[in-house]
Amino acid sequence: MTTRQQPKNLWLGRWGFVLAATGSAVGLGNIWKFPYITGEFGGGAFVLVYLACILAVGVPIMMAEIAFGRRGRGSPIDAIRRVTRESGHGRLWSLVGWMAMLAGFMILSFYVVVAGWSFSYLWKMLSGSLGGSSVDDMMAIFVANNENPFNLGMWSTLVVVLTMLIVGKGVQAGIERSVSWMMPGMVIMLAILIGYGVFSGGFGEAVAFLFSFNAEGLSSEGMLAALGHAFFTLSLASGAILTYGAYLPDRSSIARTTFSVAAADTVVALMAGLAIFPIIFANGMDPGEGPGLIFMSLPLAFQSMPLGTLFGILFFVMLSMAALTSSISMIEASVAWLNESKGIARKHAAWGVGIVLWLVSSLAMLSFNWGADWTLAGRNAFDWLDYLTSRWMMPLGGLAMALMAGFLLRHEIFKAELGLSDTQHALWLFMIRYVSPLGIVLIFIDALGIATL
Ligand code: PHE
Ligand code: NA
Repeated sequence: MTTRQQPKNLWLGRWGFVLAATGSAVGLGNIWKFPYITGEFGGGAFVLVYLACILAVGVPIMMAEIAFGRRGRGSPIDAIRRVTRESGHGRLWSLVGWMAMLAGFMILSFYVVVAGWSFSYLWKMLSGSLGGSSVDDMMAIFVANNENPFNLGMWSTLVVVLTMLIVGKGVQAGIERSVSWMMPGMVIMLAILIGYGVFSGGFGEAVAFLFSFNAEGLSSEGMLAALGHAFFTLSLASGAILTYGAYLPDRSSIARTTFSVAAADTVVALMAGLAIFPIIFANGMDPGEGPGLIFMSLPLAFQSMPLGTLFGILFFVMLSMAALTSSISMIEASVAWLNESKGIARKHAAWGVGIVLWLVSSLAMLSFNWGADWTLAGRNAFDWLDYLTSRWMMPLGGLAMALMAGFLLRHEIFKAELGLSDTQHALWLFMIRYVSPLGIVLIFIDALGIATL
């Protein structure tokens, strides 16, 4: 009987994994993407399906993914290959790891553009050039910021460089060290901002928009988006959580950390929604504005609030940190794979991946200026990267991992890794075997138009 692999890297501190995994989960997905897709898909019903997906699909799969990582102790490709071999199955299953690693890379190549927006808005706040008194002014600023590829590209390049610098330094000296000050910093800034938001009023309409269930409001596309976003927001099926799990010490509890990461992520997303929609409604903006939603609405609100500039700066510092603690997790899988399995020094691996990343991210960046019309079936490069990963690659990868954990692999592995009581384990097994896969499959069937839910 084989057992857990020996780790090559481990989180040093007791909080290492929780900080890093929460840092990975809480990001632009919560503050930028969740509000704008909720706006696009009409609010309440979308939010309900999203929450159901987090609980029924996201949480069980996150537990499985961390277990894969810790058992196999390596990048998604290596860890999955080892764990399937331990159960007597062939190498083909490591394709699931390949897809996850590719998804993480593809996500990062458009994520750096949005993170670049955050850094550039921080700069605008600091230099006092974010003035404007109407929604139209703010839209014009957003458009102007995107128009020049050299300006926009400079900011996304900065994000690529910062990400690779941190990852290149290593798991403990780079990733763990940076999250151990960025995460507490973020929490403090977020708490201040939420307090500020509560006292500035205007919650009613936002609460109604987010939490009133209206079944006609939900399309098949909305359901697929909610499912995809549950994966995206929890950093699942993209190599991030699995690779971080590979560094999890033997004694840490997978279930407990999963619940705290998922809870923190959900709270931050809902809080972001509660902070942003009052501004949208108070200013007569369209909630379905798209990717620019928070960049057009929030600065406007900061303009008209006492100490607004200060809080604006705080907000964009917080957002930029949230983005960085996520971006490092998306690329760690690729770097770990090159390092462990191809023997390339971590620094070199990081810069190599960084160059390819920079090239692909340039395509996403150009989608907002020169390449706005370079579309295929109505989507530009930025949209394709987002669409392919969120709607298809992550749910499919998650489905594959759920089925592997539920049916294919030896149960002793998950019994040992999860360390749950018998009843708890039976519940997890039921979820990962039937509930999570069925949820994914039903939403796919609905979205493909084979049958309607
Ligand atoms: N979870 C991150 C967010 O919500 C995004 C992410 C996706 C991070 C995939 C890692 C992997 O911003
Ligand atoms: Na998230």
